[in-house]
Amino acid sequence: MAIRLDYSNMMAAAVGGGVAEGMWADAGSRFTEVHAAAAAQHADGVLGFLDLPDDREMLAAVQGFAARARGRYDDVVVLGIGGSALGPIALRTALCAPGWNDLAASERGGRPRLHVLDNVDPRTIHALLARLTLSRTLFVVTSKSGGTAETMAQFLVVLGRLRTASLPPREHLVFVTDPENGALRALARRDDLPALEIAPNVGGRYSVLTPVGLLPAALVGIDCAALLEGAADMRTRCAPSQLARNPAGTYALLQWLADRQLGKGIHVFMPYSDALRDMADWFVQLWAESLGKVGSDGAGTGPTPLAALGVTDQHSQVQLFMEGPANKTVTLVAVAKGQQDVTIPALEPDIPELAYLGGHTLHELLDVERRATAGALARRGRPNMTLTLDTVDAWHLGGLFMMLELATIYAGSLYEVNPLNQPGVELGKQFTYAMLGRADAGAARAEWDKLPRPDPRWQL
Ligand code: PA5
Repeated sequence: MAIRLDYSNMMAAAVGGGVAEGMWADAGSRFTEVHAAAAAQHADGVLGFLDLPDDREMLAAVQGFAARARGRYDDVVVLGIGGSALGPIALRTALCAPGWNDLAASERGGRPRLHVLDNVDPRTIHALLARLTLSRTLFVVTSKSGGTAETMAQFLVVLGRLRTASLPPREHLVFVTDPENGALRALARRDDLPALEIAPNVGGRYSVLTPVGLLPAALVGIDCAALLEGAADMRTRCAPSQLARNPAGTYALLQWLADRQLGKGIHVFMPYSDALRDMADWFVQLWAESLGKVGSDGAGTGPTPLAALGVTDQHSQVQLFMEGPANKTVTLVAVAKGQQDVTIPALEPDIPELAYLGGHTLHELLDVERRATAGALARRGRPNMTLTLDTVDAWHLGGLFMMLELATIYAGSLYEVNPLNQPGVELGKQFTYAMLGRADAGAARAEWDKLPRPDPRWQL
């Protein structure tokens, strides 16, 4: 079991426009500082996600809740957004059987369907609520802050439906939130509702291995202990301060050098696996919200992550990656061994366009196309690297989450920004509160009222 990183195609030796060996040798000492800074932050209790693999109490709470819920629900609906939704979505896509929600209960081993509502589009919410049997549904309301407008709105809609149906909220709601603060915690205390804790020192987009991801995972039968074991293994692999031995450090340094020294500030994340397609969205949020900040010089800084899917995007975005502006790195994610494979029958030996495919397998085709794309990108002078998972299972997913979270912390240090906050989204939230009349939004209302109004000259 392993996750390997091959960055040969990031280096100038293989790719004109890649990282020169001298540049890479110099990066070693920079990484020693970055590594020390992360260790100091961890010692100060800041990087709580690093401690999650050891949190037996958290695991027991998740498993206990899931065991008590077993057989009681046909549907589990996560209400959450951003870091409170993307982890559960990535886990479901990677580790539940394909088409999970369309399978019969017996094919799901009696486990519930899993839905994640990560938007407030009424069309989606109305459609889902209309087809659920509420008496057989559990709503997992996930919010670290316990007050995010979108999640609270969804929650109120659901609470209204439960009351109308005279269903006891404590049988159909569980909160995942901060242990002390926020409206959800206060409600849980007041109404004696079940609530699991997100450790105070773990922020939204670093929370997939807290009950945010683990509870939905456990409810559908995913092996949460294996997720944490994989994360622990990766944490150990990322302990060394020598760059060449630290996968998260190597990933962060390569991306930062490519951006800062080589003008490649767009970072494509491209799994060659349908199971991992939603990992790309999870990574995009992690990289974007953590690193897109006002830098130490007062200017906007940070790379732009982009999600793609192999092979599908070979017929879409890859044209841009190959011949468009040379401002990107591409991370290809490979799976060494598919869980199922399908042999392509050799049915038409006389038609050249079909004959060469016969006898190969679909996994072979997927993998050959991934290698071909990596080689073609290199040939075009487009730096790329490949992360290979031996297989897609809970252990490898846990490791991948840990590696990319730690890489983000290192990258924050390199870009000299705080990868744990998101001040840029605050103003939009305040304006929303102002327009909806939230009591404490007076100042935002005044600021909103001063903004220029739409000008008829520029409308048509
Ligand atoms: O990564 C983050 O911190 C954010 O994307 C949050 O997850 C998102 O804003 C939702 O916040 P909360 O979990 O407090 O409702």
